[in-house]
Amino acid sequence: MASSKFFLILILAALIATPVVVAQLGGLLSGLLRPINIDGVLFCSLNGKIDVLNGATTPIFPNASVQLRCGAGNVVSSTTTNESGAFSLVLNPVQNIVSSLLSNCNIVVTTPLSTCNASLPSVGVLQSPLQIVEKPAGGLVNLTSGVFQLITQPN
Ligand SMILES: *[C@@H]1O[C@H](CO)[C@@H](O)[C@H](O)[C@H]1NC(C)=O
Ligand SMILES: *[C@@H]1O[C@H](CO)[C@@H](O)[C@H](O)[C@H]1NC(C)=O
Ligand SMILES: *[C@@H]1O[C@H](CO)[C@@H](O)[C@H](O)[C@H]1NC(C)=O
Ligand SMILES: *[C@@H]1O[C@H](CO)[C@@H](O)[C@H](O)[C@H]1NC(C)=O
Repeated sequence: MASSKFFLILILAALIATPVVVAQLGGLLSGLLRPINIDGVLFCSLNGKIDVLNGATTPIFPNASVQLRCGAGNVVSSTTTNESGAFSLVLNPVQNIVSSLLSNCNIVVTTPLSTCNASLPSVGVLQSPLQIVEKPAGGLVNLTSGVFQLITQPN
């Protein structure tokens, strides 16, 4: 309640303020409305993570289709891993709230694992919840994928 009163006062102040104050308020809001980044690197393994098998490290998984799915499985955003296995999704902060992304969404890899290693399954999708990368002062966060699981019935 106190914070909604605070915002009401801010809005009223902005309406009667000088252009300089309006510009400062705009700067504050654009800081709060920074895009939400979800970045990660996908590896060619059953949990999508780097591992050491027989002394060799897991290769990365390039050209894989990566989706952000929320709720009952709606595809909210999608991309493809690059030649380094890296993916990056940028979300609009007005339409997305970090807390609901964390509780409601998963990163899903739809390209079969057999594409990067013929010994791995050709059915199912890799699925991981989101996690916070870091939380620097100011409360701005970046997100990434966690440990993947192979799911044969996608959500
Ligand atoms: C990834 O896709 C690009 C463009 O489609 C292709 O040139 C490249 O060979 C692919 N790389 C792998 C490892 O599949
Ligand atoms: C893949 O994307 C990552 C992160 O955006 C970037 O650092 C890297 O240079 C890219 N690699 C290639 C081969 O494009
Ligand atoms: C491919 O997957 C098999 C089965 O998990 C594993 O033993 C092998 O080391 C993998 N190959 C590479 C190049 O990672
Ligand atoms: C968040 O991600 C963006 C884009 O990848 C990067 O430029 C920035 O340094 C990251 N910031 C933090 C605090 O992780």
